[in-house]
Amino acid sequence: MLSGGLPRESICAVIGTYGTGKTTFALQFAYEGLSRGESVIYISLEEREELLRATMAQKGWDPERFGDRFYLLRLDPTDFNLAISSIKSELPALIRSVKASRVIIDPISLFEGLFLDEAARRQEMFRFIEVMRDEACTLVLTSETNTANPEGSRYGLVEYLADTVILLRYVRSAGLTEVHLALEVVKMRRSPHSREIKPFEILEDQIMVYSEASLF
Ligand SMILES: Nc1ncnc2c1ncn2[C@@H]1O[C@H](COP(=O)(O)OP(=O)(O)OP(=O)(O)O)[C@@H](O)[C@H]1O
Ligand SMILES: [Mg+2]
Repeated sequence: MLSGGLPRESICAVIGTYGTGKTTFALQFAYEGLSRGESVIYISLEEREELLRATMAQKGWDPERFGDRFYLLRLDPTDFNLAISSIKSELPALIRSVKASRVIIDPISLFEGLFLDEAARRQEMFRFIEVMRDEACTLVLTSETNTANPEGSRYGLVEYLADTVILLRYVRSAGLTEVHLALEVVKMRRSPHSREIKPFEILEDQIMVYSEASLF
């Protein structure tokens, strides 16, 4: 669906409501990088480090195996100054020192929510993305959806800033006794990506996209 995958050094937003698999997607992306010998930085603004490590271990993606190549950091989003300075000023230096080629912020919407008004949020996010474009890493940002627009991110910004946008959502159709999960590639700059809506599942050991199956 991504015609080969996320382009190296691009920015990807994974947007979805609660429980649609954003964190699992992000952890799987991290694990893939780690197993290819890359260094990965995972900044969690929501789930605690030990719980994320437990999720990975449960899926058979033992994070301990990778030692220092996996840099997992939980930031407390209620500590405004610390969270902002860590992400804005310290992250670029950290990326260089760890030589991280994959960086994840899960979810970026909690970071965006730290800014008190729309203008500050917009300006800071533009600046942050500009800074990140100078780094030699692929960035994955997860985001909650907007209650008024379930196809958009919480603050309606990341989908414009990112090169690739992947939307995860629930499908509840009449006659179905189960809720299904579906995925679509909404946008992918410079790529002839798929526009199909495909079912996916969060399995014991991985996220599986059924690209041959059809939902409707
Ligand atoms: N071992 C498993 N087998 C099957 N499904 C699982 C398993 N582990 C988790 N899930 C599913 O994944 C969901 C959680 O996924 P995840 O935490 O990645 O979502 P999220 O989009 O990050 O949610 P949130 O917005 O709450 O952080 C669970 O609600 C459950 O449906
Ligand atoms: Mg999550």
